[in-house]
Amino acid sequence: MSPATAAVTLPPVGCIVPAPAGSPVLHRAATAADAPAIHALIVDHLAEGHLLPREFEEVTAHARRFIVATWGDRIVACAELAPLSRAVAEVRSLVVTVDARSLGVGGEIIDELIQQATAAGFDKLCAFTHAPSYFVRLGFSIVPHVWLPEKIVTDCHRCPHFRRCGQYSVVRALGRAAQAFVPLGSLHG
Ligand SMILES: CC(C)(COP(=O)(O)OP(=O)(O)OC[C@H]1O[C@@H](n2cnc3c(N)ncnc32)[C@H](O)[C@@H]1OP(=O)(O)O)[C@@H](O)C(=O)NCCC(=O)NCCS
Repeated sequence: MSPATAAVTLPPVGCIVPAPAGSPVLHRAATAADAPAIHALIVDHLAEGHLLPREFEEVTAHARRFIVATWGDRIVACAELAPLSRAVAEVRSLVVTVDARSLGVGGEIIDELIQQATAAGFDKLCAFTHAPSYFVRLGFSIVPHVWLPEKIVTDCHRCPHFRRCGQYSVVRALGRAAQAFVPLGSLHG
């Protein structure tokens, strides 16, 4: 057991604990062995997060695209970096368990996905969510769905909720595309 995890006393699942000073939550790339835990996290938070249902086989096949956060030996958060095109990647299946929330875990995972997507050469990172304000706080902007035709072609057109899903599209420019972005306010005098 590593020194970082040796001193951690695991909270029981579902028990809300106060944020510990110096959170013991760690992040790492997922492997296929994590697929059962990732799939269970997604299934458990489908309704709360209005998440896209995921088949176990699909999660297993794409396990290496996921980042997981661990607390001791328990996976308490996950998110996938899914390519939609050569230029656009999507944050999918972002979940943090109730007892690990408000520790910054979700924000840290998004930061990690931003770094990965930038390093992989994507111009934009997007998400489709009922929680747009969470993403706006992390530097994303709300945009019309049609600004992300890759998502419509990849997923939306075969979704029974197409055009009435109630989700917001949010996007964040990456790398050189982000440097080219000029905030509107800075154009005035
Ligand atoms: C949204 C979610 C991932 C946030 O995880 P987290 O690790 O608690 O997030 P962070 O610690 O980085 O940020 C916490 C802050 O985000 C805010 N926040 C949490 N959920 C939010 C939401 N749905 N809308 C807006 N803000 C939200 C919290 O109020 C908190 O604010 P504070 O710092 O002022 O107290 C988590 O609540 C979750 O898994 N929810 C269920 C699934 C879901 O909604 N996924 C996102 C859909 S794509």
